[in-house]
Amino acid sequence: MFIFGTNTKMQHSPQGSQQFLQDVIERARAHLTDIQLSSVQLFYIPPYTSLTGVSEMCQAHNIWLGAQNTHWELGGAFTGEVPAPILKASGATFVMLGHVERRQLFGETDETINKKILAASSVGLRIMLCVGESSFEKRAGAGKTAVTRQLELALADFKSPDQLLILYEPVWSIGTGGEAAHPDYVAIAMDDIRSTLQERFGQSGESIPILYGGSVNAENCADYAVLPQCAGLGVGRAGWEAESFVKVLQTALTAR
Ligand code: PGA
Repeated sequence: MFIFGTNTKMQHSPQGSQQFLQDVIERARAHLTDIQLSSVQLFYIPPYTSLTGVSEMCQAHNIWLGAQNTHWELGGAFTGEVPAPILKASGATFVMLGHVERRQLFGETDETINKKILAASSVGLRIMLCVGESSFEKRAGAGKTAVTRQLELALADFKSPDQLLILYEPVWSIGTGGEAAHPDYVAIAMDDIRSTLQERFGQSGESIPILYGGSVNAENCADYAVLPQCAGLGVGRAGWEAESFVKVLQTALTAR
């Protein structure tokens, strides 16, 4: 299965999410072959406010529905936060944690990410853990060290490798002004991530999917999709409109 989807950040209202998924489903049926359709696992990570409204549609079409964050406590007095049990009750099947925008703009640390992972997994949510080195770490030749450290700290005490996905997103590749990473560079980084996962989880570490994200678009997606290390793609901007989402998906699947 090729895993493919989008984190919409602050895009997509509740109605917008429904329309988006409807369009994606229709366009995917129109533009993908049956073999392609059966070889892809789609995911969708909208704002919290969209979860409930699209949960039935996601269930019916086997689309993994994710939240962009959660709190590390399962409940309590934490105004503005959403705990994992409520995400689950809202239809989420997984939660994305450790996105660099959360690390950089909202003070998320390896320790809080770890606590969130443990909380989410305790209620049976799948985890999409984002890791990636900064441009400074890359320049200093410490990219591998930085990513290994993120993995080891985030996954401390975590015992459910079958619930885990890794989204490798170098910080310098994300968002407007980001520069997509060279596929050779991504392949090496993914090999390093795989080694860390194997050291951490033994044989179960071999089957944890590792995805790439960061300025993925229709022009470059094929270069990642053909990497044997790459289990899928996490798309930001190029995935927010159904037409572009399906174009990137189709291009990636055709290349494989
Ligand atoms: P981008 O976002 O594709 O717009 O660079 C990726 C992400 O933030 O996951």
